[in-house]
Amino acid sequence: MNNKELIKLAMEAREKSYSPYSKFKVGAAILTKSGKIFTGCNIESASYTPTICAERTALAKCVSEGNLDLYKIAIVGSFDKISYPCGVCRQFLREFGKDLIVICAKNENDFSEYTLEQLLPNSFGPEDL
Ligand code: THU
Repeated sequence: MNNKELIKLAMEAREKSYSPYSKFKVGAAILTKSGKIFTGCNIESASYTPTICAERTALAKCVSEGNLDLYKIAIVGSFDKISYPCGVCRQFLREFGKDLIVICAKNENDFSEYTLEQLLPNSFGPEDL
């Protein structure tokens, strides 16, 4: 599974976005070190606060199926520019490793790749407790 393929899966997941309030669709696709894929979209709520981002939807599916070996995550939001994960999602992802590769994409031909450490430097994590 290369970056372009992972981004395409995130774009497919974005189609499932439930975002009637913001109308901002986001999709994410996680690739584990063992080669499994988990996708997710943002899901909004009429009471706003319970809204969950695409990245956390994908991560909840991945972890709740027993997979802690995250390798890469691809994220697509806006159709016009590269989308980056929000602060809450950066922290939630950080739990499973600073070496996670985060692919921030506009589409499969326009993306930037970072480590979680680059997006969330000097972070707090499980080793700090
Ligand atoms: N959103 C995500 O899904 N991921 C992010 O990293 C940033 C924001 C969603 C939440 C909300 O449904 C919409 O985008 C607008 O903020």
